[in-house]
Amino acid sequence: MVLHFVESGKLERGKGPAVVLLHAFPMDSLLWVGQRKAVAAAGHLVVTPDLPGFGGSARADGEPSLDVYADEVVHLLDHLAQPQVVLGGLSMGGYVAMNVLRRYPERVAALVLADTKASADPAPAREARLAMAAELVAGKAMGELPRTMPTSLLGESTRAGNPALVGTVGRWISAQDPFAVAYAQRAMAARPDSTQVVQEFAGPVLVIRGAQDALSSAADAATMLAGGAGPRQLAEIPAAGHLSAIEAPEAVSEALISWLRGLA
Ligand code: MLT
Repeated sequence: MVLHFVESGKLERGKGPAVVLLHAFPMDSLLWVGQRKAVAAAGHLVVTPDLPGFGGSARADGEPSLDVYADEVVHLLDHLAQPQVVLGGLSMGGYVAMNVLRRYPERVAALVLADTKASADPAPAREARLAMAAELVAGKAMGELPRTMPTSLLGESTRAGNPALVGTVGRWISAQDPFAVAYAQRAMAARPDSTQVVQEFAGPVLVIRGAQDALSSAADAATMLAGGAGPRQLAEIPAAGHLSAIEAPEAVSEALISWLRGLA
Protein backbone atom coordinates (compact mmCIF):
# COMPACT_ATOMS: atom_id res chain seq x y z
CA MET A 1 0.00 0.00 0.00
CA VAL A 2 1.04 3.62 -0.45
CA LEU A 3 -0.45 5.73 2.33
CA HIS A 4 -2.78 8.54 1.33
CA PHE A 5 -0.94 11.79 1.94
CA VAL A 6 -1.05 15.53 1.32
CA GLU A 7 2.10 17.20 0.07
CA SER A 8 2.52 20.98 0.48
CA GLY A 9 5.34 23.21 -0.76
CA LYS A 10 8.57 22.00 -2.29
CA LEU A 11 12.15 21.27 -1.34
CA GLU A 12 14.16 24.48 -1.42
CA ARG A 13 17.91 24.82 -1.39
CA GLY A 14 19.23 25.46 2.12
CA LYS A 15 15.93 24.55 3.81
CA GLY A 16 16.80 21.00 4.84
CA PRO A 17 14.96 17.77 4.06
CA ALA A 18 11.19 17.26 3.82
CA VAL A 19 9.12 17.61 6.99
CA VAL A 20 6.83 14.61 7.58
CA LEU A 21 4.13 15.04 10.23
CA LEU A 22 2.16 12.08 11.64
CA HIS A 23 -1.28 12.53 13.15
CA ALA A 24 -2.86 11.62 16.49
CA PHE A 25 -5.46 8.97 17.41
CA PRO A 26 -8.24 8.56 16.35
CA MET A 27 -8.16 11.04 13.50
CA ASP A 28 -6.25 11.69 10.30
CA SER A 29 -3.83 14.09 8.68
CA LEU A 30 -6.34 16.95 8.87
CA LEU A 31 -4.81 17.42 12.31
CA TRP A 32 -1.95 19.22 10.52
CA VAL A 33 -4.15 21.40 8.33
CA GLY A 34 -2.89 24.55 10.09
CA GLN A 35 0.78 23.67 9.63
CA ARG A 36 0.71 22.45 6.01
CA LYS A 37 0.35 25.87 4.47
CA ALA A 38 2.36 27.86 7.01
CA VAL A 39 5.40 25.57 7.07
CA ALA A 40 5.30 25.20 3.26
CA ALA A 41 5.13 28.99 2.93
CA ALA A 42 8.34 29.19 4.98
CA GLY A 43 10.08 27.19 2.24
CA HIS A 44 9.71 23.56 3.33
CA LEU A 45 8.25 20.48 1.68
CA VAL A 46 5.61 19.21 4.14
CA VAL A 47 4.14 15.70 3.87
CA THR A 48 1.18 14.68 6.03
CA PRO A 49 0.17 11.02 5.60
CA ASP A 50 -2.95 9.27 6.87
CA LEU A 51 -1.77 6.30 8.95
CA PRO A 52 -3.16 2.88 7.90
CA GLY A 53 -6.97 2.69 8.14
CA PHE A 54 -7.37 6.41 8.91
CA GLY A 55 -8.54 9.11 6.50
CA GLY A 56 -7.91 7.93 2.94
CA SER A 57 -5.43 5.12 3.71
CA ALA A 58 -6.24 1.41 3.46
CA ARG A 59 -6.50 -0.67 6.63
CA ALA A 60 -3.58 -2.68 7.97
CA ASP A 61 -4.18 -6.33 8.71
CA GLY A 62 -2.51 -9.07 10.71
CA GLU A 63 -1.19 -8.77 14.27
CA PRO A 64 -1.63 -5.13 15.38
CA SER A 65 1.73 -3.38 15.75
CA LEU A 66 3.09 0.13 15.31
CA ASP A 67 5.85 -1.58 13.30
CA VAL A 68 3.30 -1.84 10.49
CA TYR A 69 2.57 1.91 10.63
CA ALA A 70 6.31 2.71 10.71
CA ASP A 71 6.97 0.38 7.76
CA GLU A 72 4.25 2.16 5.77
CA VAL A 73 5.71 5.58 6.62
CA VAL A 74 9.14 4.42 5.40
CA HIS A 75 7.53 2.92 2.30
CA LEU A 76 6.00 6.35 1.62
CA LEU A 77 9.44 8.00 2.03
CA ASP A 78 10.80 5.53 -0.55
CA HIS A 79 7.87 6.30 -2.85
CA LEU A 80 8.64 10.03 -2.51
CA ALA A 81 12.40 9.42 -2.95
CA GLN A 82 13.18 11.06 0.41
CA PRO A 83 16.15 9.23 1.97
CA GLN A 84 16.08 11.28 5.19
CA VAL A 85 13.45 13.60 6.66
CA VAL A 86 12.55 15.75 9.62
CA LEU A 87 10.06 13.37 11.22
CA GLY A 88 7.36 14.63 13.54
CA GLY A 89 4.31 13.21 15.22
CA LEU A 90 1.65 14.30 17.67
CA SER A 91 0.71 11.77 20.36
CA MET A 92 0.16 8.46 18.48
CA GLY A 93 2.05 10.05 15.59
CA GLY A 94 4.94 10.55 18.01
CA TYR A 95 4.85 6.86 18.99
CA VAL A 96 5.13 6.00 15.29
CA ALA A 97 7.98 8.50 14.78
CA MET A 98 9.87 6.87 17.69
CA ASN A 99 9.27 3.46 16.12
CA VAL A 100 10.74 4.69 12.81
CA LEU A 101 13.71 6.05 14.76
CA ARG A 102 14.22 2.67 16.49
CA ARG A 103 14.02 0.61 13.31
CA TYR A 104 15.14 2.98 10.54
CA PRO A 105 17.43 5.53 12.28
CA GLU A 106 19.13 6.42 9.00
CA ARG A 107 15.84 7.95 7.76
CA VAL A 108 15.55 10.51 10.59
CA ALA A 109 17.52 13.77 10.37
CA ALA A 110 15.65 15.49 13.20
CA LEU A 111 12.63 14.76 15.38
CA VAL A 112 9.51 16.68 16.39
CA LEU A 113 7.66 15.10 19.32
CA ALA A 114 4.38 16.85 20.09
CA ASP A 115 2.06 16.04 23.01
CA THR A 116 3.45 12.53 23.22
CA LYS A 117 5.53 10.33 25.50
CA ALA A 118 8.38 7.82 25.17
CA SER A 119 7.10 5.45 27.87
CA ALA A 120 5.04 2.32 27.23
CA ASP A 121 1.59 1.94 28.79
CA PRO A 122 1.17 0.81 32.38
CA ALA A 123 -1.03 -2.31 32.67
CA PRO A 124 -4.35 -0.51 33.42
CA ALA A 125 -3.97 1.75 30.35
CA ARG A 126 -3.18 -1.29 28.21
CA GLU A 127 -6.26 -3.08 29.48
CA ALA A 128 -8.45 -0.02 28.83
CA ARG A 129 -7.19 0.10 25.23
CA LEU A 130 -7.94 -3.59 24.67
CA ALA A 131 -11.42 -3.16 26.17
CA MET A 132 -12.13 -0.21 23.87
CA ALA A 133 -10.87 -2.19 20.88
CA ALA A 134 -13.15 -5.13 21.72
CA GLU A 135 -16.15 -2.79 22.05
CA LEU A 136 -15.43 -1.11 18.70
CA VAL A 137 -15.17 -4.42 16.91
CA ALA A 138 -18.29 -5.85 18.58
CA GLY A 139 -20.33 -2.71 17.90
CA LYS A 140 -18.86 -2.10 14.41
CA ALA A 141 -19.29 1.61 15.18
CA MET A 142 -17.49 4.50 16.83
CA GLY A 143 -20.17 4.57 19.56
CA GLU A 144 -19.79 7.35 22.12
CA LEU A 145 -16.18 8.26 21.22
CA PRO A 146 -17.00 11.29 19.01
CA ARG A 147 -18.91 12.75 21.99
CA THR A 148 -16.59 11.77 24.85
CA MET A 149 -13.07 11.97 23.44
CA PRO A 150 -12.90 15.70 22.58
CA THR A 151 -13.22 16.46 26.30
CA SER A 152 -9.96 14.73 27.17
CA LEU A 153 -8.14 15.69 23.97
CA LEU A 154 -8.83 19.43 24.06
CA GLY A 155 -7.59 21.85 26.70
CA GLU A 156 -9.94 23.73 29.00
CA SER A 157 -9.36 27.03 27.14
CA THR A 158 -10.40 25.44 23.83
CA ARG A 159 -13.43 23.73 25.36
CA ALA A 160 -14.59 26.99 26.91
CA GLY A 161 -13.66 29.37 24.11
CA ASN A 162 -13.88 27.40 20.88
CA PRO A 163 -16.94 25.11 20.89
CA ALA A 164 -16.80 24.91 17.08
CA LEU A 165 -13.45 23.09 17.35
CA VAL A 166 -14.95 20.66 19.88
CA GLY A 167 -17.58 19.83 17.24
CA THR A 168 -14.97 19.55 14.49
CA VAL A 169 -12.88 17.06 16.48
CA GLY A 170 -16.04 15.02 17.18
CA ARG A 171 -16.82 14.91 13.46
CA TRP A 172 -13.23 13.92 12.59
CA ILE A 173 -13.46 11.05 15.10
CA SER A 174 -16.88 9.90 13.85
CA ALA A 175 -15.53 9.77 10.28
CA GLN A 176 -12.96 7.06 11.17
CA ASP A 177 -13.27 3.32 10.59
CA PRO A 178 -13.99 1.55 13.94
CA PHE A 179 -11.92 -1.46 12.87
CA ALA A 180 -8.90 0.75 12.12
CA VAL A 181 -9.37 2.52 15.46
CA ALA A 182 -9.49 -0.86 17.24
CA TYR A 183 -6.31 -1.92 15.41
CA ALA A 184 -4.59 1.30 16.51
CA GLN A 185 -5.56 0.75 20.15
CA ARG A 186 -4.16 -2.80 20.06
CA ALA A 187 -0.99 -1.60 18.32
CA MET A 188 -0.45 1.20 20.88
CA ALA A 189 -1.09 -1.25 23.75
CA ALA A 190 1.73 -3.43 22.40
CA ARG A 191 4.28 -0.65 21.92
CA PRO A 192 7.58 -0.89 23.81
CA ASP A 193 9.22 1.84 25.86
CA SER A 194 11.18 4.23 23.58
CA THR A 195 12.99 6.28 26.23
CA GLN A 196 16.45 4.97 25.39
CA VAL A 197 15.87 5.29 21.64
CA VAL A 198 14.84 8.94 22.00
CA GLN A 199 17.51 9.84 24.54
CA GLU A 200 20.30 8.29 22.43
CA PHE A 201 19.24 10.04 19.22
CA ALA A 202 22.10 12.35 18.20
CA GLY A 203 20.10 14.71 15.97
CA PRO A 204 18.10 17.82 16.91
CA VAL A 205 14.81 17.34 18.77
CA LEU A 206 11.89 19.73 19.16
CA VAL A 207 9.40 18.82 21.89
CA ILE A 208 6.06 20.63 21.63
CA ARG A 209 3.55 20.50 24.46
CA GLY A 210 0.21 22.18 25.00
CA ALA A 211 0.39 23.71 28.50
CA GLN A 212 -3.06 22.21 29.24
CA ASP A 213 -2.31 18.74 27.84
CA ALA A 214 -3.99 16.31 30.25
CA LEU A 215 -2.69 13.17 28.50
CA SER A 216 1.05 13.84 28.11
CA SER A 217 2.70 15.47 31.11
CA ALA A 218 5.51 17.98 31.57
CA ALA A 219 7.53 15.05 32.99
CA ASP A 220 6.93 13.10 29.74
CA ALA A 221 8.26 16.11 27.82
CA ALA A 222 11.30 16.36 30.15
CA THR A 223 12.15 12.68 29.50
CA MET A 224 12.21 13.33 25.74
CA LEU A 225 14.33 16.46 26.23
CA ALA A 226 17.00 14.57 28.19
CA GLY A 227 20.15 13.06 26.70
CA GLY A 228 21.26 13.27 23.10
CA ALA A 229 24.36 14.81 21.59
CA GLY A 230 22.36 17.30 19.50
CA PRO A 231 20.31 20.34 20.57
CA ARG A 232 16.92 19.75 22.20
CA GLN A 233 14.30 22.40 22.62
CA LEU A 234 10.89 22.69 24.28
CA ALA A 235 8.07 24.77 22.83
CA GLU A 236 5.29 25.08 25.39
CA ILE A 237 2.06 26.23 23.76
CA PRO A 238 -0.12 28.34 26.07
CA ALA A 239 -3.90 27.79 26.26
CA ALA A 240 -3.71 24.50 24.33
CA GLY A 241 -4.32 20.90 25.36
CA HIS A 242 -3.32 17.57 23.81
CA LEU A 243 -4.22 18.59 20.25
CA SER A 244 -1.98 21.67 20.27
CA ALA A 245 -1.60 21.61 16.45
CA ILE A 246 -5.28 22.50 15.98
CA GLU A 247 -5.91 24.32 19.26
CA ALA A 248 -3.14 26.85 18.66
CA PRO A 249 -2.20 26.31 15.00
CA GLU A 250 -0.33 29.58 14.59
CA ALA A 251 1.80 29.11 17.71
CA VAL A 252 2.66 25.52 16.72
CA SER A 253 3.52 26.55 13.14
CA GLU A 254 5.66 29.40 14.44
CA ALA A 255 7.51 27.05 16.83
CA LEU A 256 8.15 24.60 14.01
CA ILE A 257 9.26 27.24 11.52
CA SER A 258 11.68 28.99 13.87
CA TRP A 259 13.18 25.64 14.96
CA LEU A 260 13.53 24.54 11.31
CA ARG A 261 15.24 27.85 10.55
CA GLY A 262 17.84 27.04 13.22
CA LEU A 263 18.57 23.64 11.58
CA ALA A 264 19.40 25.03 8.15
C1 MLT B 1 -3.48 10.42 20.65
O1 MLT B 1 -3.89 11.59 20.75
O2 MLT B 1 -2.92 10.01 19.63
C2 MLT B 1 -3.73 9.50 21.80
O3 MLT B 1 -3.92 10.22 22.98
C3 MLT B 1 -2.61 8.51 21.94
C4 MLT B 1 -2.87 7.55 23.05
O4 MLT B 1 -4.01 7.06 23.20
O5 MLT B 1 -1.93 7.23 23.80
